[in-house]
Amino acid sequence: MSDTSFQGFASGWFLVCFSEELAVGEVKPVTFFGKELVLFRTAAGQAKVLDAYCPHMGAHLGYGGVVDGESVRCPFHAWEFNGDGECTTIPYATKIPPRAKIDCWPVDEHDGMLFVWHDRAKGAPTWNIPAVEGHGTPDWTPWSFGQIIVKTHPREIVENVVDVGHFIPVHGTHVDTISNEFTGHMATQINSGTAYPLGGGKDKYSLRATYHGPGWQYTHMKGYLESHLINAHTPIDENTLLLRFAVSVRKRDGVMLDEAFLAKYVENLRQGFFQDIRIWENMHTKDHPVLCDADGPLIKLRQWYRTFYQPEAKRMEALHG
Ligand code: FES
Ligand SMILES: [Fe+2]
Repeated sequence: MSDTSFQGFASGWFLVCFSEELAVGEVKPVTFFGKELVLFRTAAGQAKVLDAYCPHMGAHLGYGGVVDGESVRCPFHAWEFNGDGECTTIPYATKIPPRAKIDCWPVDEHDGMLFVWHDRAKGAPTWNIPAVEGHGTPDWTPWSFGQIIVKTHPREIVENVVDVGHFIPVHGTHVDTISNEFTGHMATQINSGTAYPLGGGKDKYSLRATYHGPGWQYTHMKGYLESHLINAHTPIDENTLLLRFAVSVRKRDGVMLDEAFLAKYVENLRQGFFQDIRIWENMHTKDHPVLCDADGPLIKLRQWYRTFYQPEAKRMEALHG
């Protein structure tokens, strides 16, 4: 990518995992934003994210670290660190060195998803990921989810928001109406048309898909079924990302929403992403594409997306004038 304004990683909330993937007492190593991190869930059920390496002698807390109450214990010499990254115990010492501290990451968890705030300037969060209405009630199925590692810059994924021209050639979806709204940290696509699921048949749908910041998109879709869809991507390094997708379906009389049905629904979503991925992984990104009059507001989308790579003050100025 030659456009240097998209170098590094965007600021915002990013999905780390689905809540059920991190049990109480579990410790996991992950790599995001070009950094080694450790996730753990304390005895009280709080999810925490810290930089992975112990300040003592550098052990990775995600490999052999153990939860002890509200802290994680290093596998090497058993120093313990709480969710704020402060050393709470050194079992063989009387004093804790003041520099025995690990960087901690702001975390948010709701509706079965765990998020981390990444900020280029290490600033605090400036917006929230909204609640998913109805989620967790008996009317809606729990998330069925999947993941794919994609070798691309996240910009390519986000640009789908305005890319009307790819729906028929890539997805075989006939779009009747499409429009976009940009409001502060949100970019929305409002779209209706006819989709042709891979298993056969057709589905007249209408949807509203909103990116809340650079990495998490929530779609409310109404078709034969009403569904919540999550499309989230979290950078692993500058050219690799973890794409997470999920669906929750509103229960409806006469429709069997059993595990086999939901597995097929998720597979359909996965195949939909694979249709894009073949393009994303092999394309040569154009900083100055030759656009036609019906290509949608790509330049506007890029201006919006670019703000998440800017310092906070500049981003607020660009978003709110
Ligand atoms: S390296 Fe972590 S306690 Fe020594
Ligand atoms: Fe697409």
